[in-house]
Amino acid sequence: MFKNIRDDFPQLQQKVRSSKFIYLDSAATTLIPKSVAKRIYDYQIGEVSNIHRGAHYFSNLGTQNYEDVRSNWAKWLDAKAEEVIFTKGTTEGFNLIASGLEDFDFGERNEFICSPMDHHSSLVPLQRLAQKRKFTIKFVELNSVGEIDQGSYQKLLSKKTALVSLPWVSNSLGTTQPIQQMFTEAKKMGALCLLDGAQALSLFRPDVQKLGCDFLCFSGHKVWGPFGVGVLYGRQDLLEQLPPYQSGGSMIEDVSFQSSNYLKAPHKFEAGTPNISGVLGLGAALAFMETLDFEHVRAHEKKLTELLVSKLEAIGGFEIYSRSDTCYNLCSFNLQDVHASDLGQLLDQMGCAVRTGHHCTQVLMKTLKINGTIRASMSVYNNEDDIEGLFESLKKAKDLLI
Ligand code: ALA
Repeated sequence: MFKNIRDDFPQLQQKVRSSKFIYLDSAATTLIPKSVAKRIYDYQIGEVSNIHRGAHYFSNLGTQNYEDVRSNWAKWLDAKAEEVIFTKGTTEGFNLIASGLEDFDFGERNEFICSPMDHHSSLVPLQRLAQKRKFTIKFVELNSVGEIDQGSYQKLLSKKTALVSLPWVSNSLGTTQPIQQMFTEAKKMGALCLLDGAQALSLFRPDVQKLGCDFLCFSGHKVWGPFGVGVLYGRQDLLEQLPPYQSGGSMIEDVSFQSSNYLKAPHKFEAGTPNISGVLGLGAALAFMETLDFEHVRAHEKKLTELLVSKLEAIGGFEIYSRSDTCYNLCSFNLQDVHASDLGQLLDQMGCAVRTGHHCTQVLMKTLKINGTIRASMSVYNNEDDIEGLFESLKKAKDLLI
């Protein structure tokens, strides 16, 4: 456990319907530490100004602070500041890429490789792109513990592969994929490599050069930051080839009567007044992340996940979907034939917050031939008491429902 870390997250001290509040839904959104809330508050009450356009003190300060956050994230990712675009989140990142690739020269290539675990935020924009381009999406197979089957991936990769798009960590199963190795192989075939980092960046510090990704998307609210802000990393030469995603103010160099010239990336992709307070909050989230030892984070959360799995196994009756050694911070399961949402509601009555349903991965649920799961997901602020609390509630719920 990280010393006194729970003090940084006051929401954890609340009670829900007179029960201790147990938050095990960090895969849906992490709670934000006080430092992130304070950064947003400080900006909103004492620094408000629009950026990139003013000729006064607070506008210049805001521009500097906003661009500093970009540089700091670029350092974290081992990228250049020009390669870091602020978005609304992972979904907008993938929409930007998909719309940008509508006229991209893929030569003779006409296949995408995705996985059944892909979140709708990446899969649906790529489905629309594939439909427009009349390309086919090929899906890798999963092995018995919900990791990508590497043999099936090898078989799908070919000179026809235009791009490979994968989640680093599955938001539904928790499994981690060997991205560096998979992208090395995709690159040998000349494919573009897209990485959904939404669920991974609270577990790993990414190095986009080592990982070999051409694009990486993630959301602020899954890395202890605010809602409505995220990052798209894109390789600079590719970003320069993509058209703007939206157009308007802040992304132009010169506007004439019939047409306009655009700025270079990243500003070409940030039309309009940006989410300034969100970006500053995302900067504070990075400062919080810089205090964490990610190896320790993974070890701590894995211990909690393993504790939950062993308890569920001991009591019996639960189908557990997160059995891989690569699951660090979440456990997906079902209780016999009980509908996940019925169990979720009972847990909520007892103060436990988990997510139930398809978790925005319906293709995965179709692959597993289930409607959904109950998902308990952990973060740095969870402890063994949370797992004990969930387990006691699950036992009560089981007695009521079975
Ligand atoms: N993608 C988020 C989740 O997995 C919302 O719950």
